[in-house]
Amino acid sequence: LFAGPVEFLKGVVAMDGLPPADRPEICFAGRSNVGKSSLINALTGRKALARASNTPGRTQEINYFTLGESHYLVDLPGYGYAEAPLKVVEKWQRLLKAYLAGRQTLRRAFVLIDARHGVKPVDDEIMKLLDGAAVTFQTVLTKADKVKVAERDKVLDQVRASLARHPAAFPEIILSSSEKGDGIATLRATVEGIA
Ligand code: GTP
Ligand code: MG
Repeated sequence: LFAGPVEFLKGVVAMDGLPPADRPEICFAGRSNVGKSSLINALTGRKALARASNTPGRTQEINYFTLGESHYLVDLPGYGYAEAPLKVVEKWQRLLKAYLAGRQTLRRAFVLIDARHGVKPVDDEIMKLLDGAAVTFQTVLTKADKVKVAERDKVLDQVRASLARHPAAFPEIILSSSEKGDGIATLRATVEGIA
C-alpha cells in the first residue's frame, strides 16, 4: 500500500461530503494533540502530508488521503479539548462520531492514546461507540519518547485493562514515536495486513 501513491484527496466537513464508499479505509482517531497527523506523516514518510501543530484542534476536517490504488487513509479531528470556538468543536465532534459509527467501508480505526496519560473517559466513550458500530479498533500509544520505561509500563497496564472491556478492541497495542521512529515499521506492517 505504501509503495503506491499517497496523496491528499480532500477535506470533508459533513457526512454528505465523504468520497464514494468504494474501497476499504483506515482512520486515526484520538484526543486533540495526541499525535494523529504526525503519525500519518511518519507512517507515510512524508513530513508535511498531514498538518501537525502544537495547538490542540489543528485538524478540523476529516482529511482523506489515498493509500496506494486500493485504500484510503483518514486523518480525523481530535476529540476532547481543542483551541477553537465551542460551536465549531461541537460540529466536528458530531461529524467525527457520525463517521466512526456510520462509515461502511471503515476497516479499522487506530485509536491513539498518549503514552503519558493513558485511556481517559473521553477515549472510553469513543471506544464504546466503536464497539456499538462493530468497528475493530487498535490502540497506538503515542509519544513513547516522552516517557520513562516504568511510567510507560504502568500506562500499558491501564490501557490493557481498559481494552479488556471493549469487544471491538484488537488486543495488540503498538508503542510509537513519530519523533524517533519507534513502532512505525510495526504500524506500517499492520496497515499492510488490513486488506
Ligand atoms: P489535532 O489535529 O489537533 O487533533 O492533533 P493531532 O492528534 O493531529 O496531533 P499532531 O500530530 O498535530 O501533534 C501534536 C503535537 O505533538 C505536535 O507538536 C507534534 O510535534 C507532537 N508530537 C506528535 N507525535 C509525537 C511524538 O511521537 N513524540 C513527540 N515528542 N512529540 C510528538
Ligand atoms: Mg491533527
